[in-house]
Amino acid sequence: MRDASPTTIYLKDHTPFGYIVDSVHLTFDLVPHATRVTSRIAFRPNPDAEDKTFFLHGEELKLIRTAIDGQEVTPELTDKGLTCPVPDAPFTWEAEVEIDPGNNTALEGLYMSNGMYCTQCEAEGFRKITYYPDRPDVMSTFSVRINGPHPVLLSNGNPTGSGDGWAEWTDPWPKPAYLFALVAGELVAHSDRFTTRSGRDVALNLYVRPGDEGKCAFGMEALKKSMTWDEDVYGREYDLDVFNIVAVDDFNMGAMENKGLNIFNSSAVLASPETSTDANFERIEAIIAHEYFHNWTGNRITCRDWFQLCLKEGLTVFRDAQFTSDMRSASVKRIHDVIDLRARQFPEDQGPLSHPVRPESFQEINNFYTATVYEKGAEVIGMLKRLVGDEPYAKALDLYFDRHDGQACTIEDWLQVFEDATTRDLSQFKRWYSQAGTPRVKVEEDWADGTYTLTLSQSTAPTPGQSEKQPQVIPVAVGLLGPNGDEVLGTQMLELTKESQSYTFDGLAAKPVPSILRGFSAPVVIDRDTTPAERAFLLAHDTDPFNRWEAGRALAQDTLLRMITEDAAPNADYLDGLLAVLRDDSLDPAYRALMLGLPTQSELAAALHERGTTPDPMAIWTAVETLRQATAQHMQDLLPRLHGQSLIDAPYRPDAEQSGKRALGSAALALISRLDGGAQAAGEYARADNMTLQLSALSCLLKSGKGETELAAFYDQWQHDRLVIDKWFGLQIALAAPDKTPGLTKTLTEHADFNWKNPNRFRAVMGALAMNHAGFHHESGAGYELLADWLIRLDPVNPQTTARMCTAFQTWKRYDADRQDLIRAQLMRILAQLDLSRDSREMLERIKAA
Ligand code: BES
Ligand code: ZN
Repeated sequence: MRDASPTTIYLKDHTPFGYIVDSVHLTFDLVPHATRVTSRIAFRPNPDAEDKTFFLHGEELKLIRTAIDGQEVTPELTDKGLTCPVPDAPFTWEAEVEIDPGNNTALEGLYMSNGMYCTQCEAEGFRKITYYPDRPDVMSTFSVRINGPHPVLLSNGNPTGSGDGWAEWTDPWPKPAYLFALVAGELVAHSDRFTTRSGRDVALNLYVRPGDEGKCAFGMEALKKSMTWDEDVYGREYDLDVFNIVAVDDFNMGAMENKGLNIFNSSAVLASPETSTDANFERIEAIIAHEYFHNWTGNRITCRDWFQLCLKEGLTVFRDAQFTSDMRSASVKRIHDVIDLRARQFPEDQGPLSHPVRPESFQEINNFYTATVYEKGAEVIGMLKRLVGDEPYAKALDLYFDRHDGQACTIEDWLQVFEDATTRDLSQFKRWYSQAGTPRVKVEEDWADGTYTLTLSQSTAPTPGQSEKQPQVIPVAVGLLGPNGDEVLGTQMLELTKESQSYTFDGLAAKPVPSILRGFSAPVVIDRDTTPAERAFLLAHDTDPFNRWEAGRALAQDTLLRMITEDAAPNADYLDGLLAVLRDDSLDPAYRALMLGLPTQSELAAALHERGTTPDPMAIWTAVETLRQATAQHMQDLLPRLHGQSLIDAPYRPDAEQSGKRALGSAALALISRLDGGAQAAGEYARADNMTLQLSALSCLLKSGKGETELAAFYDQWQHDRLVIDKWFGLQIALAAPDKTPGLTKTLTEHADFNWKNPNRFRAVMGALAMNHAGFHHESGAGYELLADWLIRLDPVNPQTTARMCTAFQTWKRYDADRQDLIRAQLMRILAQLDLSRDSREMLERIKAA
């Protein structure tokens, strides 16, 4: 049954559960459409709780039997759970329920994927497995018995017994139910071992479907690197005898950190040079690290309630970013993260879905696993570290682990350890957790008598439910360059705490050029009137790699905006500056590849909207094409040398060095293809012996309006490989010309391989449609209508994935009245579905309210 009137949950209403759970024992009898789950749970009254209502969550369960201390009882049932009178003393609860994993298409709770059983319990999936207080502040040890005919039967913790058709697992570490996991199937293991620094021997297994054994080695290496790194950098060791990872094809998210049994979307763990791109390898390394790092930041110390989600996710994203910086290039990683933040978090924070890093209310928690909670949450920790310093940060983290191990915590607990470890008052800093919206920092300068003055002023636009904003603590890293390009003042951390503050710098011989927000020291937008000449100067001279890149990016954006609004020609400062940087062989190829990037068309639309101009998606698309063409012509002579970078005379390695060279070579090939119509790319396609080069050559061909033969050959070559076929679907749509995009997408949804119930395949197609800016926003409205058709179809099958996809409409108020009307009509059409899920309804209502 669906909710007629969904309820809103508030942070301020949190109260502890009336009972403590001392132990949980679960027995699973696995049958596809009639799995029996028997629970035996030791409860006792919680002395710290006033409300002693015994309410257990439970959804879509068929209750067979319940007993308290061996006596059968008859609880009162609703579609959300049960209540029952219980003794005012410790008691044992038993329940037997039946569930239907074979029909669970929502992929939440216990479900099946290609004949394999698996679970996904975060955030509130455990209540679809059995009756339980399914909230993160209820922690307990679990033991599990699985009965089933499968060769591999897995759960959390350590194995404590197995035989023909059964296995038992015991997890000694108390955990909330969202970290429960079970897997059963015909799987094969890629195994290894790891010895922790205190000498614990850990068995490592990566379980995959037969046939995927050859795609495990990289993930296993990434796991061992993560384990070593967390010992070296955070002093955190692994705490069980086994660490298992399972790859599953049907999964709503990337991966899940279940204690001792991480479950991964196969796209987030399986890799081989022939089937995965360099970007895939890098993402896999980061996700393995992320889920592994949750063992301490999330599992040993968990969240009191789901409003505190950033406590584990923001911190763990921050930690995985540190790991990637250490494994690869720190400046390249930082630039990638800022590109991502601006592409995903800024639109969220500046639109109708804007919410604080720690939200204060929600209807469906699954809708709050957002870029704001994750990426802005990680930025907030980065600022905290920048403000207190590296050593005090390490001290605060030690205190956090020490003080809160085994607890379910809040952001208040987190900030308290920093206050205690550093004696810093963080009351104003805390606004980063409660105020939504992207602060804008206006920069003004003054130069008189050898004194240079910078005035910084902050403001944040109103966001839903928050009309007034207070000043925040903004660390602004600044350096000053002299007229000859030398640095006259190294990086200083200015702390902006008031609405407006001035900072003076004396004793300068000449007016300096400021380099502001170095390293992207805060997740804000800088407003400053700057000439292209000054940006070009920074592009040539800035010693801060991030800001050097940023100068090029800003120049590119300036020129594109002028091309769009004033019909200007591509700016020569940009083209010359870019050429100089690309020619400089002392610069890392990966960095130079990033320099060649442009703001996304969606970002340009946002920038126009900010300046009071209604964005025209076709005009934006045309400007980008024109600038690309001009860039290709301007760099014509250099391009063959740059492309040569990707022809590496060594066995394929997905490391930073090789992948940087391929990134630069591929970017050059894309420009060459604009000049030769794809002639060279055709040769490169034929020669490619790894997926990175194969896909880049194919992209060049498709962009040139060629590649029909290669596209068909690619399909024939890879039709047996789901993850590669996802790429085949996505690439065509991503690169389609705007007027062809909706039609091509529609045709592809009629393809026999469009298994739309598989989240990866659905996202490959519909995600690519939504990301093709000019195609999705085609004036006919065909893109909107097609996406809405499929959201309506997917919603009853998989609400979580549908709701995430609704975000494609979040920017609708930027566009012209005709497009707004077209989108509004689609929003209304989806909302008119009687049985629309709580997930999608909440998202669409918020978007509509823009
Ligand atoms: N805990 C999450 C997975 C999750 C999210 C489960 C939402 C249920 C609902 C996991 O740790 C995670 O954050 N995964 C990310 C990848 C990560 C590298 C940011 C994901 O799945 O996208
Ligand atoms: Zn996570």
